[in-house]
Amino acid sequence: MGDEIKKGLMGVTVDETSISKVMPEINSLTYRGYAAQDLCAKCKFEEVAYLILNGDLPNSKELKKFEREEKKERKLSKSLINIIKQMPKKSHPMDVARTAVSVMGLEDKETTDNSQKANLRKAMRIFSKTPVALAAFYRLRKGKQIISPKEKLSFAENFFYMCFGRVPNKDIVKAFDVSLILYAEHSFNVSTFTARTITSSLSDIHGAITGAIASLKGPLHGGANEEVMHMMNKIKKPENALNWINNALDKKEVVMGFGHRVYKSGDSRVPTMREYFGKVAKIKNDKKFEKIYDIVEKVMIDKKNIHPNVDYPTGPTYHLMGFDTDFFTPIFVISRITGWSAHIIEQHSTNKLIRPLAAYNGSQHRQVSSIEER
Ligand code: SDX
Repeated sequence: MGDEIKKGLMGVTVDETSISKVMPEINSLTYRGYAAQDLCAKCKFEEVAYLILNGDLPNSKELKKFEREEKKERKLSKSLINIIKQMPKKSHPMDVARTAVSVMGLEDKETTDNSQKANLRKAMRIFSKTPVALAAFYRLRKGKQIISPKEKLSFAENFFYMCFGRVPNKDIVKAFDVSLILYAEHSFNVSTFTARTITSSLSDIHGAITGAIASLKGPLHGGANEEVMHMMNKIKKPENALNWINNALDKKEVVMGFGHRVYKSGDSRVPTMREYFGKVAKIKNDKKFEKIYDIVEKVMIDKKNIHPNVDYPTGPTYHLMGFDTDFFTPIFVISRITGWSAHIIEQHSTNKLIRPLAAYNGSQHRQVSSIEER
């Protein structure tokens, strides 16, 4: 008898982290010891980004410096802009983000320096430039001019501005900021573990984040927020929701935006995001998706005892904000770059090569015949 196989590493604790704590038993999530919902209530995203990267909340002087650095790095190189211009217009923006970060690695003068200080500087450059690259692609594929970043705008405001040419009202910006805070960090999820695995061979931060973006794209992970919107669009109107979800469950379909590997009685981020989804729906005077949301959620809980995860409310919220559906997971990226970077730095500081075992179940020993005999 070999060792027990833990498929999907389910329930396996593989390392320690001081970055965030997911507590399914009390439905709570903390970043560096602070409850995520308290951070949403009292902080802007930049403060939380600083906290995740540096370990403590900033005072106002530290925040100003951090914001100055983020704004200073917003410019893209001419060659990266040209590469984005040449990308096929129908590329998925997640692939654009993945390629853009990879190109940033080619251009960065500190690519091979894995010291903590260099990694923090590189993290800032990736954090600052990735939204600019994504917004450029957002405009280009619609045949529109790229909009240069504006220094006086916050991280969230600037993203709206670069995509749409204007900043929406402050309540919409706050809802977006809250979504960024809630998406910023979540312990050893698939993409973070991918980033840590890449880092464990002493590879660099650009490579690790490139891999993490590829991992986040999948519909079982970050890609779920886009799938939620496709589902809501298929349902079309609240009157169809009950039949649609019952039918999906009868056919044993996976319902996107529901379930979680760690949370079994609800994702701690959902109540906050649900509240802000409601606020955005009210501002936009469009309650259709909220109604569909509530009907599908009730059936999933009543019939399957499966609760929504954070991608369920973010999907329709981003839609109401005006983003194209395939930009939902890229928005997750621009936030999670903070969490990934903190984990990459932590992995470097306590590194042990990640190299598990596999139980072989292929053919037993075979004789090699010459090519003429095969
Ligand atoms: C994220 O881990 C993180 O931290 C990730 C994340 C982050 O912040 O980084 O929180 C972000 O990725 C959220 C998850 C987004 N994915 C989805 O919404 C996709 C839909 N969800 C599922 O496919 C599923 O729930 C997973 C992938 C999220 C979790 O998968 P597990 O832990 O491997 O569980 P499972 O798929 O084996 O499900 C267990 C049971 C199964 O039924 P049985 O075979 O035991 O009868 O629950 C059922 C599943 O069929 N089930 C669902 C379901 N989720 C679980 N049935 C229908 N619809 C679902 N969504």
